[in-house]
Amino acid sequence: MSDWSAGYRTDLDYTTGYYVDQNPCRFEVALLLAGVAPGTWRVGCELGFGNGVSLAIHAAAGGLEWHGTDFLPAHANFARGLTEAAGVAAHLRDDTFEAFCARADLPDFDVIVVHGVWSWVNEANRARIVTFVARKLRPGGVLYLSYNTEAGWAGMLPLRNLMHLHTMRMSVPAVGAATQIDEAMVFAGRVLAASPRFADANPTAARRLEAMSQQGRAYLAHEYFNRDWHPMPFSEVAEALAEARLTYVGPAGLLDMVDGLHLTVPQQEILAAIPDPVLRESARDLMMGQTFRRDLWVKGPMRMSALARMEALDGLVVMLQVHADGLVSTVQGGLGELTLNDEIYRPIVTFLSDHAPRQVREIVALPELASCTRFQVEQAITVLLGKGDLVTVLDEAASSRAQAPTRRLNRAFWQMARDRKDLPILASPVSGGGVRVERLNQLHLAARAAGVQSAEDLARHVFMVLRSQGELLLRDGVAVESDDETMMLLTEGAELFLTRSVPLLEALGIY
Ligand SMILES: C[S@@+](CC[C@H](N)C(=O)[O-])C[C@H]1O[C@@H](n2cnc3c(N)ncnc32)[C@H](O)[C@@H]1O
Repeated sequence: MSDWSAGYRTDLDYTTGYYVDQNPCRFEVALLLAGVAPGTWRVGCELGFGNGVSLAIHAAAGGLEWHGTDFLPAHANFARGLTEAAGVAAHLRDDTFEAFCARADLPDFDVIVVHGVWSWVNEANRARIVTFVARKLRPGGVLYLSYNTEAGWAGMLPLRNLMHLHTMRMSVPAVGAATQIDEAMVFAGRVLAASPRFADANPTAARRLEAMSQQGRAYLAHEYFNRDWHPMPFSEVAEALAEARLTYVGPAGLLDMVDGLHLTVPQQEILAAIPDPVLRESARDLMMGQTFRRDLWVKGPMRMSALARMEALDGLVVMLQVHADGLVSTVQGGLGELTLNDEIYRPIVTFLSDHAPRQVREIVALPELASCTRFQVEQAITVLLGKGDLVTVLDEAASSRAQAPTRRLNRAFWQMARDRKDLPILASPVSGGGVRVERLNQLHLAARAAGVQSAEDLARHVFMVLRSQGELLLRDGVAVESDDETMMLLTEGAELFLTRSVPLLEALGIY
């Protein structure tokens, strides 16, 4: 391990995930729901942006000017490639946190994002992050901070430490990170199979190890195999951030706000009776066995009156970004899978089924919802936003500013879709965020941009891309060898794309 890494694994690049909850457009909704006035945000910064997929999409679609660093040069290089393709002003570096946080040439920030970093770096780097936030976040600014939470991970700590020790003491570095990780997991499996007392006291550890065997090595390397792995209680993070004079305002994940999805009524009653927010959040984490927190902290939050909050929420514009007839009528929460109440959700979804942007006040006023309380309707909208069925919509000026950069970025994504499968995402100038678009549909979009129109021609285009790289389609998990069957499947897929996906993508400004 190189000495600039401070114990962080630098021999496998991270994944290329997109994270909607770190979109400043979402912060606005989360803050409003929490009763805190959102600000006007112009300049953002991300520490440890990984491959920068979220940053680039938010830079192209959301209009903020972004700064940031990630010390893995391959990450910084890839992320820069994305923002350069989008043609947006972004200032991305490959500095260590130590070097970046000490820079004198950075502006103050309205938003700072730190995702998947805090629990995986050492104390000195956590202290640097706090000092940086204290120095560079403007009053009214928002910190998005995610981290592994002690309540959900306590039982895994010794096993993860054992696996990390194995990579340090038993594996030869020359075998490479992926093999070191495999060897450590095999070793942990052998230890657990010998019925250690630890496994009796911590029955989740074996399930976690089993789940790890299904995950990619790039993810595992960054999640479990750094020297530092510090799941933390909320209270410890709150204490650290008090130094930066930040106030906890609520979760960044909108589903996390809906207690009924995660907590039983007696649990909710216990929590409601706790006046102290730090104790309440700590008890909540325990109730939920929380593994990962994504929190929003504000420097000097302005609390809104109930009336101002309601008016601001009423003015939000939302649209349905899935087909009404394909909408999944369940939602996954801490209590398991819950079914949405048709009497509330059906009228909302029907009203929005044409994918036209509508104000929340129009939904609230639907006659079919007359017997529902305001709280119920607000909660339903929150759930639909949290599930990703609804998105908020930018105002016209912001949306038109986002058009050219998102189009350029999307072209770069669908160009990459020719030879990689790990970027099933595009940027929407309508929502200001990312939209999941599968690889084959990205290839269809590329072909359409080149003038290809019919389903057969789109299928032929995709066929050529796949065949030129020796790729085979899978049908029910089995590779399809025959050209005729491949063309038939691709034509079916292209027809579905034209009839189902195109209208939705067009509504999201993607074409
Ligand atoms: C688990 S990844 C999360 C990446 C990204 N935020 C995401 O969620 O996709 C943590 C990132 O922090 C970067 N990192 C870790 N320690 C760092 C340091 N001391 N200075 C700069 N970057 C660092 C790593 O290179 C890695 O890309």
